[in-house]
Amino acid sequence: MLDAHEPTQVSLTVNGKPESARTTPRTTLADFLRHDLGLTGTHLGCEHGVCGACTVRLDGTAVRSCLTLAVQAHGSTVDTVEGLGETAGTEDVLHPLQQKFWEHQALQCGFCTPGFLMAAVTAVEENPGLSRDEIRERLSGNLCRCTGYAPIVAAIAEYAEQVREARA
Ligand code: FES
Ligand code: FES
Repeated sequence: MLDAHEPTQVSLTVNGKPESARTTPRTTLADFLRHDLGLTGTHLGCEHGVCGACTVRLDGTAVRSCLTLAVQAHGSTVDTVEGLGETAGTEDVLHPLQQKFWEHQALQCGFCTPGFLMAAVTAVEENPGLSRDEIRERLSGNLCRCTGYAPIVAAIAEYAEQVREARA
């Protein structure tokens, strides 16, 4: 029988790079990313699936990493907020959605932002034709205590428009 305390090897691809570490079968993907891989951009709020702060992409699907076990991600591809931007030469370049968040001041404390970004990138990739109401609906599982949501929705709507134009 699997011992919940016995470390097991978890190997996966994170932001395009192969990663591997030993961790216990009960470790969540969020804790694995933050503590074992040092990727602290994924935030933990409620730790029980309510706030969306811990959202990452697992094989292209937005998931709550506080409700996903690290062992469930073995062999998979995970994208976190650290993988969104790029480094061009010596400069860090924001992802277009991050740029829109910056332009619309769609963050204050920023605690919720990584989860919103990962959920929104996924939603727009699936359907760049989302209306503002549909954006609100798709992001209804992500909570923000600071912004009042209007700038977040505006930023995502403009990013979706950019994606539509790029695909036209
Ligand atoms: S920390 Fe995962 S949903 Fe809140
Ligand atoms: S910016 Fe503070 S919780 Fe969203």
